[in-house]
Amino acid sequence: MTDGLEAALSLTYAWIKAGHVIFVIFWIAGLFMLPRFYVYHQQAAAGSPEERSWIERERKLRKIIITPAMAMVWLLGLTLLYITGAWSQGWMQAKLVMVLLLSAYHGWMIGYGRKLAAGDRSMSGKALRIMNEVPGLATAVIVVLVIVKPF
Ligand code: HEM
Repeated sequence: MTDGLEAALSLTYAWIKAGHVIFVIFWIAGLFMLPRFYVYHQQAAAGSPEERSWIERERKLRKIIITPAMAMVWLLGLTLLYITGAWSQGWMQAKLVMVLLLSAYHGWMIGYGRKLAAGDRSMSGKALRIMNEVPGLATAVIVVLVIVKPF
């Protein structure tokens, strides 16, 4: 490979990785906010104008930030994976398991938002606050896996 082509490819890789990390931040920031919104939503009286405002805020957060950010993280992450071939490494396999769990959490939280909008408040505020710890813990484990690469 010529030096020029190699330099161009490594620059492209760096840009894809930068994009990956930027969308990771958007995704996780949104996941931190969503259960908080649900807690405040559940403090509003059912059917009140305040409840309708929360339903709209939650819908926008999901549609404009969280779901597109997750799609971009997956798209760019899988591109990096294709370029590096890192799936044979233990830390990457462990990371994939964590990311699948985080994506399942995302799906479940979105599902709860739909139920909430339909008037079903089956979770307590306390349970939602506890669930709100999941993205922080997953982020800590994933960052250690990708940076320290312990195995
Ligand atoms: C959705 C599926 C994901 C896939 C397929 C994926 C894949 C990858 C790959 C292949 C790399 C390059 C790693 C290397 O060779 O050094 C990378 C970098 C990185 N990923 Fe992901 N990733 C995903 C999600 C995430 C999530 C959810 C986080 C954080 C919560 C994250 C954080 C990072 C960070 C911080 C780096 C940069 C590490 C460095 O300095 O090289 N990724 N990702």
